[in-house]
Amino acid sequence: MHIEVVQMRRLAERDFDRVVKLEARNWWNVLSREYDLEHIANFHTRMELVFGRQLLRLLQRCDEFPEGQIVVYCHELKRPVGAISSFILKAATLEDVPPTWHGATGNGYFTTHDSKGDMLVCASIITLHSGLPAQRLSELKKQHISSTLLRAQHDLAVKAGLRKMIAYSRPMNYGEYVARNGPTSIEDYLRVRDERGRLYDRSIGMHEHELEAFARGLGRPARILPNGRPLDPEALGYNVLMDYSPALELSA
Ligand SMILES: CC(C)(COP(=O)(O)OP(=O)(O)OC[C@H]1O[C@@H](n2cnc3c(N)ncnc32)[C@H](O)[C@@H]1OP(=O)(O)O)[C@@H](O)C(=O)NCCC(=O)NCCS
Repeated sequence: MHIEVVQMRRLAERDFDRVVKLEARNWWNVLSREYDLEHIANFHTRMELVFGRQLLRLLQRCDEFPEGQIVVYCHELKRPVGAISSFILKAATLEDVPPTWHGATGNGYFTTHDSKGDMLVCASIITLHSGLPAQRLSELKKQHISSTLLRAQHDLAVKAGLRKMIAYSRPMNYGEYVARNGPTSIEDYLRVRDERGRLYDRSIGMHEHELEAFARGLGRPARILPNGRPLDPEALGYNVLMDYSPALELSA
């Protein structure tokens, strides 16, 4: 498959809309609550409202920091198959990062972006993993889309001369794990692994996988934020900061 990394603002309108739709779908349970749209029973109406609000967010992100809004475009499928959003924050250390996703990101609009800041913050990563024939999806999986997106941000941080980079991530399977296994502290949950040694959590597992490729031991969560995103039901309101700064140093 021929995939290409491009800036979101370079997409044709139809493809830009596809990215917004993918955002709306992948963050559905969070956005429906945050936009207070749960009472709307009609799925299509609700989807249109979520879409409209996310469209405004993504357009503003492109205005604030176009270089940080990156997609992977697949030429065979003639569409974007993943996207990642970042901005630069004035924060010398991890402790200086605001403890909520909304606080850090200016409610998702990236008004907190500071071109003279210190730290590249990846605030959202999404990939296409449904809505295509199974064969296509498995071909897509082999393209390492999330890794390509994270590497693109890593390259951007290097190019911008930044010494710090984080992913403002979420333990996306925590709610489901607790529902199945009973109360479990977040610290214990973030240690749960399958028989192959992979973290139970897919999102933190993805970051661990990426970071461990740079050096052993880099993949551990750097800071856990209770109520980081209170209305995220899948992550039970938690955010987790994953620190890519040592990976930047290694490739300097
Ligand atoms: C999180 C998300 C981006 C993951 O994307 P994905 O393409 O489905 O990820 P994959 O399952 O292909 O995993 C990506 C990589 O991490 C690895 N990985 C996945 N889960 C893992 C785990 N639990 N432990 C270790 N490695 C893991 C995969 O093997 C893969 O590596 P490879 O490309 O070298 O094979 C996607 O599920 C999504 O869009 N979620 C909704 C939005 C969200 O929660 N975003 C993340 C928070 S910022």
